[in-house]
Amino acid sequence: MLKTIEVTANYISERIKGEVEVGIILGSGLGGLVNEIEIATTIPYKEIPNFPVSTVDGHNGTLIYGKLGGKNILAMQGRFHYYEGYAMKEVTFPVRVMKKLGIDHLIVSNATGGLNPDYKVGDLMIISDHINMFPEHPLHGPNINELGPRFPDMSQVYCKELRDKAKFIALKNKIEVKEGVYVGVQGPTFETPAEYRMFRILGGDVVGMSTVPEVIVARHMGMKVFGISIITDSGVPGEIVEISHEEVQEVAMRSEPSMTLILSNLIARMR
Ligand code: HPA
Repeated sequence: MLKTIEVTANYISERIKGEVEVGIILGSGLGGLVNEIEIATTIPYKEIPNFPVSTVDGHNGTLIYGKLGGKNILAMQGRFHYYEGYAMKEVTFPVRVMKKLGIDHLIVSNATGGLNPDYKVGDLMIISDHINMFPEHPLHGPNINELGPRFPDMSQVYCKELRDKAKFIALKNKIEVKEGVYVGVQGPTFETPAEYRMFRILGGDVVGMSTVPEVIVARHMGMKVFGISIITDSGVPGEIVEISHEEVQEVAMRSEPSMTLILSNLIARMR
C-alpha cells in the first residue's frame, strides 16, 4: 500500500512540477468550479498509475492542478463511488495520494437528498458531521501506522474553523447556507420514503452516496476537512417526487456558482 501510494504520488508530482496545498473532490454536476481554476496541468485518471477509472456519467475523471483563491490546488473532477464496485481502499486511494503530495486540507462536495424539512431543493449545506452507513469501512484491515492511528478520533471531523469561515463568507455574499449532518449510504438506489424517514429519525439532515469514506481516510491521516452538500431532491414526507441522476445533476449545476464562490473564498482564507 505505502509503495503504491508513493508510485502514484511520484508520477503526479512529476507531471505537476510544483507544490500543492489543498485537495478538492468535486461531486456530481459540481465540476463547474474547474472554470474558476487557473489551470496549469490536467491529467486524465486513465494515465495515472494505480488510479481506478470513474464509470458514472457526469463524472469526468480528470485530475486538475492549478491555482484557486491564490493557492495551489489539486482537484478531482469525478470521484470513485462504492456503488461502482470499487473496494473502499480504491475509493479512498486518491486521498492517500493527496496527503503524500503534501496536501493537508481536503474539500469535498456532493449532491444529496434533503431530510430536514427546513431544507429546499437547491439549498447549500455545510457538513457539520456525518453518519457512516456504508457496509464496508475504509480502515478495515491491518492498520498502517505510518499513515495514522488504529483508532482515529472522530470528535470533530469537519473543521470548525473552516465551517465558521465558510458561514462568514456566505453571509457577506448574501448566500443562504444550512449546516447539518450528512448520512453516507452505499446506493445506487435512491431512498424509499420509509428509508428517508428512517435517516431523518437517525439524526441526518441530508443523505448521499459518497464523501464519508474519503473523509474518514483524510481524518485518519490528520488532514483538515471541509464538506459542502447541494440538496438536489427532497426526502421529506409529502415532498418526495420521482427523481433521476440527470435531475440531480441539473439541480447541482444550478446551485454550483454559489458553492464555487464560497469555496474559492474559503481557500483564499485558509492558513
Ligand atoms: N439519496 C442519496 N443520494 C443522493 C440523493 C438522494 O436522494 N440525491 C443525490 N444523491
